[in-house]
Amino acid sequence: MDTKLLKINSDGYAYASEILKSGGLVAFPTETVYGLGANALNSDAVAEIYTAKKRPNFNPLIVHVLNLETAQKFAVFNKDTLLLANKFWPGPLTVVAPIKNKTNLSRLITAGLDTVAIRVPAHPVARKLLETFNGPIAAPSANPSGSISSTSAAHVKSGLGGRIQAILNGGKCDVGLESTIILSNNGQCNILRSGGISEKEIEEVLGYKISLNQNSDTLISPGQLSSHYAPNANLRMNAIKADEDEYMIGFGDVVGQLNLSSQGNLIEAATNLFAYLHMADEDAITLGKTKIAIAKIPMHGLGVAINDRLTRASTPKS
Ligand code: TXA
Ligand code: MG
Repeated sequence: MDTKLLKINSDGYAYASEILKSGGLVAFPTETVYGLGANALNSDAVAEIYTAKKRPNFNPLIVHVLNLETAQKFAVFNKDTLLLANKFWPGPLTVVAPIKNKTNLSRLITAGLDTVAIRVPAHPVARKLLETFNGPIAAPSANPSGSISSTSAAHVKSGLGGRIQAILNGGKCDVGLESTIILSNNGQCNILRSGGISEKEIEEVLGYKISLNQNSDTLISPGQLSSHYAPNANLRMNAIKADEDEYMIGFGDVVGQLNLSSQGNLIEAATNLFAYLHMADEDAITLGKTKIAIAKIPMHGLGVAINDRLTRASTPKS
């Protein structure tokens, strides 16, 4: 299959929307990472996502919609999830909430769970696509299962080219990290995956301390599987200096072939993270290096999510 690279204009949106309507797959930019979209009401189309990504069937998908009102057609919100949605949508927050009994969402999306993950993206291209298509779009990150997320159309093409109909080319993603996933249960909010919105920002809205469940042993969110995000080369964290056989990614004063943020800015580091892991993977081969070393990233703000992704990326693939 020839994967078309679509320009951001009315023809591009119309073409992408037609593909979704006919059950095909289109990758599109969101403010976090590129998503691999399918019509969320069409089980055959949703099944194609799993095939294209070679994703294990038990891993459920996020449904993308234009606004909270549409989200409430599919999921039941409570006091906390309403507060958070009102504050952070559109934006990098995913809410996991009980699925409504009578929805026409493909059951493949939830992979058998009685909850559904929903997100209202802020990226203008994602929003225009949702508007043109005029329906819910199921979209995991647009990368083959087990490799790192894509933050540009070129990453999508190198990972999924030939396996999907088209990519809407909307340039680089701003946040660079996936959305923060929260679950509110029995009056308690949990973060299932840290991401673009920090724990502190969420606590400020809720007015109470929440727990970070992402490294617990119970698999509430299958994306917690430890080696979910991985570059090809082995990765060593908290490096001060590269070994002979290592390609170095720096941060702040710790230098390397690349630097996530020479100013030590965590927002800039998050934006660059996946792109630099992709680049390091490619450049390491050219330079005859077999490993990647990465400088220590502080554990506050977006640093929590960055360290979570790096820990997964440095876990040997099973
Ligand atoms: O920023 C993002 O969230 C991107 C963009 C494209 O929206 N999407 C993304 O999707 O990262 P994905 O499929 O790569 O990760 C979604 C995560 C998975 O770890 C999945 O297990 C979890 O969400 N998830 C989905 N539905 C769930 C549910 N009902 N309960 C718990 N976890 C769920
Ligand atoms: Mg993913």
